[in-house]
Amino acid sequence: MSEQAPGPWHDVAALDDLFDGAGLEFSVAGQVVAVFRDGDAVHATDPMCTHGLARLCEGFLEDGQVECPLHQGRFDLVSGAATCAPATRALQVHPVRLQDGRVWVALGTAAEG
Ligand code: FES
Repeated sequence: MSEQAPGPWHDVAALDDLFDGAGLEFSVAGQVVAVFRDGDAVHATDPMCTHGLARLCEGFLEDGQVECPLHQGRFDLVSGAATCAPATRALQVHPVRLQDGRVWVALGTAAEG
């Protein structure tokens, strides 16, 4: 199984703009991305829960997972896997790179341009 190269990188925010244990939404290249800070780790995902119309940035972060504010489904922030019902469909995650105090997110894949 080969991994696809990440798409173009986008400078999204200063690391200091993110609050530990919380998420914020950013508009990046015409797409909304949820960015979560979990201690020294930063994760980027699609903003909406895969189960319903809930914004995951309004959810609760614990143990590397975000809990949906609507029905308490959970997602692993590294893999995007749904880890607690009623969420069953994985969340799209995006690669994150930290550089010089800035948070960079790659959207899409290199093949998509
Ligand atoms: S909307 Fe997120 S678990 Fe139902």
